[in-house]
Amino acid sequence: MSLVEAAAWSLHVGFAVFWTGSVLFVAVAVVPPATRGDIGADALAHIVGRLRWSTRIAALAFLGSGGYMMETRYTVDALFATDRGHLVLAMVALWFVTTGLVEAASGTLADGLDAGTLREPARDARPFFYAAAGLSVGLVLTAGLLAAPFGS
Ligand code: HEM
Repeated sequence: MSLVEAAAWSLHVGFAVFWTGSVLFVAVAVVPPATRGDIGADALAHIVGRLRWSTRIAALAFLGSGGYMMETRYTVDALFATDRGHLVLAMVALWFVTTGLVEAASGTLADGLDAGTLREPARDARPFFYAAAGLSVGLVLTAGLLAAPFGS
């Protein structure tokens, strides 16, 4: 494995852990108290802002490192005709939809906070955060299958 490959893999796995962990943490630990009004508006705005930016920076990291990994390990045929190729395509699709859900959820919450409300936007954003958390678990499972000596 070359130095560039090692860097791409480390960046990719590092952001995978950080980003899916962040999405799950916000869904599990931040959204429920926010819907009850048990968390300050400023703190919530800060957390959601950080999640939004993390999602955008992670998108660049995933596209850059994942694109490189795809180019070095797969041909177009291998992507569509092998089990591992299907897992990579599933990974890209899950990442894309999860990113959209996090953007929609954070946008809904941020707009509500800007308008001076808290509980209602938190309730509106809750299904998006929960769906994003569910898909994050799917991403971790997909990555786990790729890490195991599975398929061809
Ligand atoms: C643009 C989005 C993405 C692309 C293009 C992409 C692409 C890839 C590719 C090509 C591989 C190498 C597969 C192999 O070893 O055969 C890989 C591995 C991996 N990906 Fe992604 N990925 C993306 C997003 C994600 C996300 C959001 C996660 C979060 C869980 C993730 C987690 C991982 C992990 C942990 C591995 C290492 C698996 C191993 O040990 O081989 N990826 N990815």
